[in-house]
Amino acid sequence: MKILVINGPNLNLLGLREPDLYGKQDYKALCEFINANSLGNEVELFQSNHEGVIVDKIQSAYKNFDGIVINPAAYTHTSVAILDALKAVGIPTVEVHLTDIAQREAFRQHSFVSLYAEKQIKGKGFDGYTQAIQYLTEKYGK
Ligand code: DQA
Repeated sequence: MKILVINGPNLNLLGLREPDLYGKQDYKALCEFINANSLGNEVELFQSNHEGVIVDKIQSAYKNFDGIVINPAAYTHTSVAILDALKAVGIPTVEVHLTDIAQREAFRQHSFVSLYAEKQIKGKGFDGYTQAIQYLTEKYGK
């Protein structure tokens, strides 16, 4: 199946960004990890720091992708626009967070995207992306 992996703001700064929380590996390492664990799927990787650009990318996925894995980063907690875009295109979606947002500040504990996503995987680091791809593959792969 074709899976679109979307990473939101500041995830391009992995490695530099709060390494005690997010790890020492950079975004390129994350991309290599996802590509190495794509379970035979065709995976496209996308990162943006801009909410509207992420909305545009989700809209363009309509009829072009069978599944979405998204770490909306800070937009998780603020973006009705990203939630609405996911609902509009209706593509099966898994939400991923490197950290366990349920154990962090109160403002991180609400996720708009989880109102649409079939599953939320948190606190598993890079492995969370593989688990998301595995979930979509088992449920929707042919
Ligand atoms: C994050 C958690 C968010 O609260 C934060 O804003 C991020 C990354 C995670 O992967 O743990 O940027 O989505």
